[in-house]
Amino acid sequence: QAKQDLAGKQILITAGGTREAVDPVRFLGNRSSGKMGYALAAVAARRGAKVTLVSTVSLPVPAGVQIVPVETALEMRDAVLSRFNDVDVVIKAAAVADYRPVAPQAQKIKKHDEHLTIELVKNPDILKELGERKRGQLLVGFAAETHEVERFAQEKLQKKNADLLIANDVAQPGVGFGTETNQVTILDRNGGREDLPLMSKTEVAEAICTRIAQFLRN
Ligand code: PMT
Repeated sequence: QAKQDLAGKQILITAGGTREAVDPVRFLGNRSSGKMGYALAAVAARRGAKVTLVSTVSLPVPAGVQIVPVETALEMRDAVLSRFNDVDVVIKAAAVADYRPVAPQAQKIKKHDEHLTIELVKNPDILKELGERKRGQLLVGFAAETHEVERFAQEKLQKKNADLLIANDVAQPGVGFGTETNQVTILDRNGGREDLPLMSKTEVAEAICTRIAQFLRN
């Protein structure tokens, strides 16, 4: 039996990449597989948390986890915001599209001209909205960066009013999108940092849950 240091805590986790419709058969997406979010859900549930997983992918659902399927950033936003008041912790492992097509076409776009332009509009930043609304909830964000990882991660921690920020340098082999492993640095709002080695996403999830449990105790 795993240690029960998250017993009774309500934890909302997001996983996977959002899909933004272009037309009925096409979408704009990204390379998130959902594995990091599912590993977090499995570990948090084993350690006693009541876990809701808002997910864009269909991986096997970990034992005891309640799944909320979504596809787009707007759907994810609704699913997260409508549950926010009832949770103790939110972990935003999902890769949310920063932009979506302004006008998804009702019919399949046919091939005509040599060039095709799709106009995009900014999606709401869910983590930032949570940071503005939070009343005692612990907010855990991720930062997926390919350069200047430390600077951008620190910026996201501040700007989004997160409590913990998990930074991964997704340009490194075995790190980030689609892999079985990850290598992260955990930054906290008090200036603390923990550099972890490359390890399985389950081990990364264990380390993140340990930091969360410490924060919840203090
Ligand atoms: O799913 P896997 O294949 O296992 O890959 C794991 C991962 C690389 C997706 C994961 O480790 C990770 O880094 N997730 C965050 C990916 C991301 O989109 O990061 P970002 O730096 O663009 O966003 C920063 C934070 O803001 C994230 O917590 C994100 O969920 C959140 N965000 C971003 C944009 C937006 N419109 N709303 C948000 O809430």
